[in-house]
Amino acid sequence: MRLQVRFLEAGSFATSRSLCQRRCGLPGGFPPEVLFGEADQVPQGMMSSAIRQLSACRSGPLRGKAFVPGDKSISHRALILGALTVGETKISGLLEAEDVLSTAKAMRQLGAEVARVAEGEWRLWGAGVGGWHQPHGVLDFGNSGTGSRLVMGAMATTPVSVTFDGDASLRKRPMKRVLEPLTRFGASYEAREGGQMPLTLTGADRPICIDCEVTVASAQVKSALLLAALGAPGRTRIVQRTLTRDHTERMLKTFGAEVLVEPLDEGEQISVVGEVELRPAEIAVPRDPSSAAFPLVAALIVPGSEISIPGVLLNPRRTGLIDALLEMGADISVSNRRESGGEQVGDLLARHSNLRSIEVAPERAPSMIDEYPILAIAAANASGRTVMRGLHELRVKESDRLSAIVHGLRACGVTVDELEDGFSVDGRPGYIPGGATVATHMDHRIAMSFLVAGFASRLSITVDDVSMVGTSFPEFESLLRSVGAEFE
Ligand code: S3P
Repeated sequence: MRLQVRFLEAGSFATSRSLCQRRCGLPGGFPPEVLFGEADQVPQGMMSSAIRQLSACRSGPLRGKAFVPGDKSISHRALILGALTVGETKISGLLEAEDVLSTAKAMRQLGAEVARVAEGEWRLWGAGVGGWHQPHGVLDFGNSGTGSRLVMGAMATTPVSVTFDGDASLRKRPMKRVLEPLTRFGASYEAREGGQMPLTLTGADRPICIDCEVTVASAQVKSALLLAALGAPGRTRIVQRTLTRDHTERMLKTFGAEVLVEPLDEGEQISVVGEVELRPAEIAVPRDPSSAAFPLVAALIVPGSEISIPGVLLNPRRTGLIDALLEMGADISVSNRRESGGEQVGDLLARHSNLRSIEVAPERAPSMIDEYPILAIAAANASGRTVMRGLHELRVKESDRLSAIVHGLRACGVTVDELEDGFSVDGRPGYIPGGATVATHMDHRIAMSFLVAGFASRLSITVDDVSMVGTSFPEFESLLRSVGAEFE
């Protein structure tokens, strides 16, 4: 028997409700709550917890196996493409964290049937390309830029009108980068000045295919356009000068879309044929390299450590952090490389290492854009000055990450310089003084990075709010504790 997934307006969880109201500055911006048939089991991470400080302390050797959760980018895409497909899509290893659950809820609001059959095992019965319904109420994406932007693209060539909203962090993020190119398909929108949420996007009644160059180095923008192209008759051509993660292109092929990727002298052109019928697929989501980054760097900076992380996604457009750490002298080995569902996967083993500083090439940024906060912690534990540039995009993530990293490191006693498009860190193995509280600005990766710093700092490091970790890696604390990390 299929278990029914029902998303309810919150109300029964007082802490979630008040937290969310505070984040959104409005009543009603609730996180999804999910009921699972009779069992009524709510997996870890499905509910926002109240704002909570957490401190990490200097820890002894970290040892063991770290099974990190499924990849966030692939999880969003699997749900969205499943919802655009007629028939049953089976997903295993889905990341059950708040960001992805917001997308699951949105898919249901738009007309897909969504069921969770076991941990990480989900089934979707989609409404097909062009078949999404007019949703009741607002689509609330919480903290998730990826979910919201991808869904904007996927609905832009269907005649429905959708209001998008999110928490205080998402409401600050730029949306015109997606909305403007979507108008070329025939969609229209109303938004606050600056194009931020809350906003209403109305999909094209008679969509047309387009030729378009994406001017920001963003996989989200590229993916939104590719998803929009599915509903427009003819071939849409998208040029991107900077190569960004290509999970949408790969997964579109798995779902039977006609996608062509052609290299250009600078960048590549991706073309997609629209008004196709997608075929249901089985997607095994590999483990997230952006989450693996935390136990990985923890192993490198805590003396005596050795951590293995099996089954991690190794798509070459996501492995910039591993490349940078190897250049810094990290003892990381990759074994059992294999292919799974059109993506490369492998097992990582990381041991404590004597890291040295490097200059991180700006061209590497797209392949490790989410990993600069944790790379900064590795850099603070590497001898010499590490310089990272080409990081404008870090200013418009869940927080202004450039500024959050710089202020956090400074608070912990590390010498750091903020540059217009990057920063430099003066590092020394095992020397971070710590003894500070770091402001996380509603940013999960800032929170996790500074907690990892605390495992190798002299005094403990406190982060002001660990609740946002639930948006991407709900098991972070328990998993790190299981390999010996100490929190207080
Ligand atoms: C993502 C793309 C990146 C990344 C985000 C996930 C995706 O954002 O930072 O966490 O899944 O496409 P940008 O496309 O804005 O660089």
